[in-house]
Amino acid sequence: MARLRIMSVSSFGGSFARLGPMRKPRFHGKLPGMTTSVTVLGLGYVGLPTAALLASRGLRVHGVDTSAAVRATLAAGRSHIAEADVEALLERALRAGLFTLHAEPPPADVFVIAVPTPLGPGHAPMLGHVLDAARALAPALRSGDLVLLESTSPIGTTARIAELLRGLRPELGEVHVAYGPERVLPGRILAELVENDRVAGGLTPEATRRAVAFYRLFVRGEVHATDAATAEMVKLSENAFRDVNIAFANELSLIAGRHELDVWRVIELANRHPRVNILKPGPGVGGHCIAVDPWFLAHGAPEAARLIPAARAVDAAKRAAVLEQASALCAAGERVICLGLAFKGDVDDLRESPALAIAAALAQRHPGLVVAVEPHLDAPPAGLEAPLLSLDAALELPGTLLVLTDHRVFARLPPAALAGRRIIDTRGIFRRPIVPHREENA
Ligand SMILES: NC(=O)c1ccc[n+]([C@@H]2O[C@H](COP(=O)([O-])OP(=O)(O)OC[C@H]3O[C@@H](n4cnc5c(N)ncnc54)[C@H](O)[C@@H]3O)[C@@H](O)[C@H]2O)c1
Repeated sequence: MARLRIMSVSSFGGSFARLGPMRKPRFHGKLPGMTTSVTVLGLGYVGLPTAALLASRGLRVHGVDTSAAVRATLAAGRSHIAEADVEALLERALRAGLFTLHAEPPPADVFVIAVPTPLGPGHAPMLGHVLDAARALAPALRSGDLVLLESTSPIGTTARIAELLRGLRPELGEVHVAYGPERVLPGRILAELVENDRVAGGLTPEATRRAVAFYRLFVRGEVHATDAATAEMVKLSENAFRDVNIAFANELSLIAGRHELDVWRVIELANRHPRVNILKPGPGVGGHCIAVDPWFLAHGAPEAARLIPAARAVDAAKRAAVLEQASALCAAGERVICLGLAFKGDVDDLRESPALAIAAALAQRHPGLVVAVEPHLDAPPAGLEAPLLSLDAALELPGTLLVLTDHRVFARLPPAALAGRRIIDTRGIFRRPIVPHREENA
């Protein structure tokens, strides 16, 4: 049997070496030892770092993307995603001849599907990219291969892929199909790919075994074996948990507003209870995961899902409340300076961003009275009809500060820069630290 040569991270070099030496893969029987090549379909935030990491372990990796522009950029050794260390790893993988780019999937021992799963009309999951990827890889499949879905998907998608493949390649013996959800945090993707615990679930015990063994090639966290449908629901539950709990904090902020109470103080004091941990309110949740994935759960069992759609409705209500509060000021002739457009602090990601949605709606209602500051952008994004100013230039102007994103550069503004301003601080970045209990009662 051919032995797989595993390069340690440090032997691959680069700043990524700080992740330290890798755990040696644990081989179970002959199968994982035979994994020498992987085809990764979809080279975005999940697929590209995964492909580069696999190549850094000495595996032959075929990267497949339907976008010719993405393939060309990557072939030139440049990363099209802003993610720490990925470009360095990509360059080395290309130089070592371990990473090649393709429009059509080449044969491999393992196929990883990491393509988008957006929401369609009526909050229905759109599985077109996933099914296209499965159709595209079918001609390259060989008996005994492992097909691993990583895209966030509704329960039952892995089984649907297996059925599709069986229909397209009925002559094949066994093909193992499994689900391995990804839970990386943008900005820390490479580190989290290695360090996070993972869940891997096959449609059969053998598919599960192979998926677990595959992840153990590069994951230092625990790899938890389960079945495919459970793994699908685990991923969706994680993001629905975040959404529901942030919605609770936002609902508290709306209630506190009615009573003219400081919700941040309320939450901080409630969290002094040993079994309470309320999350932070804000202008709403964003990003392509938390604002999207809960719908995948609700869509599959609409009659059973009551809290999840309610949380989504609270999110919409909180966005609307922030918009109305700022709009009332504009209606009285006040300029509003929107601080931040990204969906969360210190990232440039505008996807599903409540900050961008609120700023854009405000500017549309009150032309000429709204300006925006987003340090990660050079020009206003599509849909925002308002000038984009530097923070310094914006602070030269009179007007209310509407804090929509908790970028550190905003939180560090000196008190003098804020003096005499009206501030709507949806993120609580300017609030004073909690007053010790004794003083609170004084
Ligand atoms: N980005 C994250 O932090 C994150 C975290 C966890 C899970 N996920 C999930 O992972 C999946 C991928 O997300 P992403 O952020 O990497 O997406 P992305 O948009 O960054 O990249 C997807 C890539 O797939 C390509 N593509 C589309 N259809 C294809 C096809 N049929 N064959 C080959 N390539 C195709 C696109 O051109 C694109 O380059 C989604 O289901 C997402 O919800 C993402």
